[in-house]
Amino acid sequence: MTRDVITGATDALAIVGDPLAQASTPRLANDRLKARGIDARLMPWRVAKGELNAVVAAMRAIRNFRGAVVTMPHKRDVCGLIDELEPHARAIGAVNVLRRSRSGRVVGGNLDGQGFVAGLARAGESVAGKRVHLIGAGGAAAAIAFALAEAGVERLSIANRTRLAAEQLAHRLRGVWPKVDVVVDDATGAEIFVNATSLGMRHSDPLPMDAALIEPGSLVAEVVITPAMTPFLAAAAARRCRIHAGLPMLEAQIDLMLDFMLDEVSCTEV
Ligand SMILES: NC(=O)c1ccc[n+]([C@@H]2O[C@H](COP(=O)([O-])OP(=O)(O)OC[C@H]3O[C@@H](n4cnc5c(N)ncnc54)[C@H](OP(=O)(O)O)[C@@H]3O)[C@@H](O)[C@H]2O)c1
Repeated sequence: MTRDVITGATDALAIVGDPLAQASTPRLANDRLKARGIDARLMPWRVAKGELNAVVAAMRAIRNFRGAVVTMPHKRDVCGLIDELEPHARAIGAVNVLRRSRSGRVVGGNLDGQGFVAGLARAGESVAGKRVHLIGAGGAAAAIAFALAEAGVERLSIANRTRLAAEQLAHRLRGVWPKVDVVVDDATGAEIFVNATSLGMRHSDPLPMDAALIEPGSLVAEVVITPAMTPFLAAAAARRCRIHAGLPMLEAQIDLMLDFMLDEVSCTEV
């Protein structure tokens, strides 16, 4: 039954990050909860980096807390604080969604990469057999790298400001997906370019890469949601590339996140 009011029986969900003012998740998730008739609400919890441990402890204690979306800057740090990591999250080394079981165990999963590939698919773009240049080696980039490999890309080049992080991500990826040609910062022949850094969120940010190196007709995709038209996408459009904004990645995973947080099987354990 759809409920418009919060009662004593309403379940609590959250998004944990800092900053959060720009986050689209509360609006999208609460719209979906209402549409699906689920008696739960998702609230923004603005949590600074050093405070996460206390928040995870509170998650274990709050009995009507069901789960949380995790965003910057906590995706990697939270892995060491929770009780269990799902296999995808362990391989990626980052968590973007948490579930509290009935017994109070906090379990982490990662749906970012799945959301990115599904968002492209909804726009009619397939990554199978493609050569991709991915910029970034943080939480979102790692999730996207693993999902691209799982979706069957032929070649994946990873570039990052901190090159060591790109090398480490490439190394982990080769261990799990040995058939994918994984290289570091070599965009030769790339047909798809992905900005998976936070560059573009602020007006003063430089472009994640020199757009002049992108062949016209390539597909250029973003993870940054706000602004929708980042300077990188604008530069790509000016070069007659196909562009794909950051919001579809989130839209494609909202229902997956709600399903993960409200998973009835895990929640019936004692
Ligand atoms: N569309 C969606 O559904 C969705 C989902 C998840 C995340 N996101 C967005 O993805 C972005 C990254 O999030 P994240 O969780 O991956 O963050 P993160 O783990 O902190 O990683 C940040 C990445 O950006 C790079 N970076 C940051 N500042 C830079 C600068 N000044 N110059 C060059 N590189 C810089 C970092 O490089 P270093 O390693 O050198 O620091 C790293 O690769 C954010 O904008 C976030 O909002 C979108």
